[in-house]
Order: sequence, then C-alpha cells, then structure tokens
Amino acid sequence: MRNPGLIERYREFMPVSDKTCIVSLCEGSTPMVPAYKLSAAIHPRLEIWLKYEGLNPTGSFKDRGMTMAITKAVEDGFKAVMCASTGNTSASAAAYAARAGIRCAVLIPEGKIAMGKLSQAMIHGAKVVQIRGNFDDALKLVRDVCERHPIALVNSVNPYRIEGQKSGAFEILDDFEGEAPDFQSMPVGNAGNITAYWKGYKEYLAAGRSRSLPIMLGFQAAGSAPIVLGHAIDNPQTFATAIRIGNPASWKQAEAARDESGGVIGMVTDHQIKEAYKLLAATEGIFCEPASAASVAGLQKLSDNGYFNDKTPRVGSKLRVVCILTGHGLKDPDNAIKAAEAPMTVDAEEGAILDAIGLCETVAV
Ligand code: F0G
Repeated sequence: MRNPGLIERYREFMPVSDKTCIVSLCEGSTPMVPAYKLSAAIHPRLEIWLKYEGLNPTGSFKDRGMTMAITKAVEDGFKAVMCASTGNTSASAAAYAARAGIRCAVLIPEGKIAMGKLSQAMIHGAKVVQIRGNFDDALKLVRDVCERHPIALVNSVNPYRIEGQKSGAFEILDDFEGEAPDFQSMPVGNAGNITAYWKGYKEYLAAGRSRSLPIMLGFQAAGSAPIVLGHAIDNPQTFATAIRIGNPASWKQAEAARDESGGVIGMVTDHQIKEAYKLLAATEGIFCEPASAASVAGLQKLSDNGYFNDKTPRVGSKLRVVCILTGHGLKDPDNAIKAAEAPMTVDAEEGAILDAIGLCETVAV
C-alpha cells in the first residue's frame, strides 16, 4: 500500500482538522531492521532492531517533525520559516518549505555541517547563512528574529515538531503489536527527539494502543555532553557534528524521559562512536551518519559495564532494544571516506586487478 505520510497514518493523534492542507513528502513508516550480528557482538542477551530513519525523504528523522511544522506554518498564514541547524533540520525545512511554496532561511555553524546536508539546503532554495558561532548561538539568534518578525520558527522548540516526531514511537509499537521494546537507544543533541519519542510512547499507552513503555537510553558525544555533566558547554566538540550542541533546548524534558522510564543519559567518546559507525556498516550493511551510531556505541558501553546482566526481558528470552538510526550515512561522505580504507589505483589489466583485490583464493569457483 502507498505510504500516505505520517500525519495521515496517525491523524487521530495529530493536531489537524478536516480543513488542514497537509504538506507531506510521504515521510515515516521507516523499516525496522533486525541486527543479528550486532546483537551477538554487543551482548548475547540482546535482540537489537535498527529503526532506519535515514530512509525518510530528506534522509533523516527531521522529516517527521517538519511535515507537521510546515503544515501548521502554512495553516497559520506564514509565508516564511526559519531554523538554526547542525544540518539535518535545515535540509528538511528547506525541502518542505519548497514543497509548500514558502520561503526558508537557515542559520548554520560555519564549517561544521556535513556536506550532504549543506547541499540539500542549497538545492531546495533556502537562504543559507553561516554564522561564526555554534548551534547554540544560532538557535538564540533565530528565536530572537522569529519573535520580532512574521517568520515561523521550525526548530524543535516549536511544539508541532514534537507532535510529528512522536510518530516514530507509534510505528515501533505498531511493528511490535503494542508491546514496547525493553529499551530504546538514541543519540541526544538538542533533545527534541527523545522528548518526542517519550511523548509518543505515553500517548499510545494512554489511548490503549499499547501495553507497556520502554526504558529510554540517550547518548551524547563526550565533548558535547551537557546533560551528563550537568552544565552547559560553551564550546562543544565532536566529529558527530549533528549532535555538537552545548545547551539543549529540551534539556528538562530529556531528563524527564530518562527519570520517568528509569533510563540513562550517558556519553560516548568520538572513538566509540566511530567504532560503532564502522561496525554497523561492515556487519549489518547499514550506513548511518556518525551521530546516529552513538545509539549503538552507547549500548556497547552499557554492556561493557554489565548494565544488561541483571535485566529481565518483558517477553521472550531476549532483551529487545530498538536503536534509532537518525540520519543516513550519505549525509556525511567526508567522515565515511576518512573512516574507511582508501581505494586503490592500478593499471587497467586483469593481473593487476586480481592482485589488488586479493580475493581469488577465498572465492575461487
Ligand atoms: N541525530 C541526527 C542525525 C541529528 O541531526 C540530530 C539533531 C540528532 C540525532 C539529535 O536530535 O536534537 O532532537 O536531540 N540535529 C539537529 C539539526 C540539531 O539541526 O539537524 P535532537
């Protein structure tokens, strides 16, 4: 069946009426990929599923919130939208604004957004402004501008973004026929997504569409871990630029999701993120962007610390975990090329090629 987009799919949970003109690119309904080898590598008791959000129309989970935010901006009469971004929000805002026929401006930290994301914002015709500052500086500026001018703010401080993004939790619960996974693991940056998922899980339970709640596990990069450290970071650092954020707007809501679910917000080093990023690509055939791999790096860290040893599965014999792979690996080709073996160049003849690939003994027919 054709995917109608998540507002249509979950209309009864979304703030729309019969008159609302929905702006959609048929987002959502992303695959849940079972990860057998990854599960065995991390902990024998885990059953890991990968929610592949990179398969949304602009390649990240941001499309879930953006279909809703742009739909409401148009309904409320706005002719322009604006956001601060580490890259993915700007790509999504630019695409949905183009589809709606309204204008879009994005503020990004100079030199700190991945090439794929920048190219998206540009090709969709957004006004792209780089600032000499970080994401937190950009968000403050955008909030000020949108307060004083008739421009809709489409960062996740816009409540419609959270309404759209909560659909990710609905899909997981539908895929598991109403039983929440034991754990959900995800990266945390500005903390809108963990807020949205937790809201979604609670709403479905309250509506009688599910029977249980997961334990929420969120992971920040060690150089950008304000929630873990308990204070804002002035100069956040990490190669996972999507989550290079020092003062998350939804800080309190993220702590609430952690505490209400009995979960953890932890931090993982760039090295741990890189290892998980490569492991996902090499063992499961799943290419996500570095920030997304923090969800898997975090599981590995918890497992190494014995976290799962005393946990009891809700159903069956394995602890079911869903990792939210928030963005596609193609967003950030530079980091992929840096992390992998360089291509070889040889003469255009068979002998040289056979020598170079070195596969002939192992795959001889
Ligand atoms: N993963 C990816 C790929 C992201 O782009 C982001 C956030 C996150 C995780 C963290 O989500 O902020 O809701 O906690 N990207 C934002 C942006 C900040 O501007 O694209 P969060």
